[in-house]
Amino acid sequence: CRNKLAQTPPMGWMSWEIFRCQMDCKTYPNSCINADLYKTTADAMKAKGFLDAGYDTVHIDDCWEADARDPNTGRLAANADRFPGGIAPLADYIHKLGLKFGLYTAESKTTCTGHVGSYLNEILDAQTFADWGVDYLKVDGCNPNKTYYPTGYTAMGTALQISGRDIVYSCSWPAYLGSNETTKPYNTMIGIGCNLWRNWHDIQCNWKSLSSIIDHWGDYGQVLASYAGPGHWNDPDMLLIGNDCITDDQARTQMAIWSIVAAPLIMGNDVRNITASTRAILLNRDAIAVNQDPLGQAGFRISPKGATEVWARNITNAVAVALLNKGSQSSSSADSEASRAQTMRLDLPAGNDGQGPVFTHVDRDAQLRARSAAATAANTTTITVNFSDIGVSGSADVY
Ligand code: GLA
Repeated sequence: CRNKLAQTPPMGWMSWEIFRCQMDCKTYPNSCINADLYKTTADAMKAKGFLDAGYDTVHIDDCWEADARDPNTGRLAANADRFPGGIAPLADYIHKLGLKFGLYTAESKTTCTGHVGSYLNEILDAQTFADWGVDYLKVDGCNPNKTYYPTGYTAMGTALQISGRDIVYSCSWPAYLGSNETTKPYNTMIGIGCNLWRNWHDIQCNWKSLSSIIDHWGDYGQVLASYAGPGHWNDPDMLLIGNDCITDDQARTQMAIWSIVAAPLIMGNDVRNITASTRAILLNRDAIAVNQDPLGQAGFRISPKGATEVWARNITNAVAVALLNKGSQSSSSADSEASRAQTMRLDLPAGNDGQGPVFTHVDRDAQLRARSAAATAANTTTITVNFSDIGVSGSADVY
């Protein structure tokens, strides 16, 4: 049983990457997990153009929960000091701004931070979330009894379907099943109604973590892409863009690769305090258009792994290409490496008749940047791109 949601990858903002589980609101009044954090962030998402660009959901992650379920009703409850009046008034506030509202639980007795999870309470919890106005539910799997996942995630999928509310279902199940993407039960997850799933490790706020995720997607790109499509997406985790733990070049890289692989664009920054340059990267219309292309066909790395890579994705009437310059792999500090990627469109020749696609760039600057990026990459001047892997005939020299 599947819903009709998430026909393109979800876009929004989630608190975990930057605000984690800060529950000390006395010492950290502006960055602790409380209702004000989500209200002020929702205000900023609207005021700064993120909602208009498609970032339409504000997500609470872990640490919103009270210490125990409500003793009378057995329902989950929010921490009363930090969420006065509970979750519903906050959801209302966010809805009134025209945004949607996301919440978090886990298919285990406790969440990763030790809060109450939804284990064996799926029907009651899904009903509670629906009553509160939740539009998207991230379901983690920490502290797992892994043998419970098939039962638990199936039960939550069904419970959400019968809850009477449209709720996007995000399943973290495969993130707990190791690194081999060829053995994970992705078809089962599509079948039980997961609209997206966290595949692998948590992203951390540094280039080493970000580039390891890019390499993982590169290594398993075709396998992962085969499970993605309208209504069901891979999730390589949140965007670091807007945090000063990565450079603007690295931020462009993440935006480009996340767009090529049809990943959810869920920001993990402090959207209330964001630089003009990182805001511009997040609002890049071309990257968002590639990410949200209605064909919903995920792309992947089409060149060998290396200092310079080519990633490509079939989009409506065109191919989107990202040139990725990872710089010298032997450099002692990965974080100081220049890292650049641009998305550009290769428009298909009329009728896609087997002629090589013609390079037409989104903008002249991107072309120039891509050229200098490729030219400075380890002795590489020309890469021949073969598009047959993504179902397009022809090839092009990228330089
Ligand atoms: C796990 C998830 C993270 C975050 C934390 C919260 O580590 O993968 O995204 O939700 O739990 O505890």
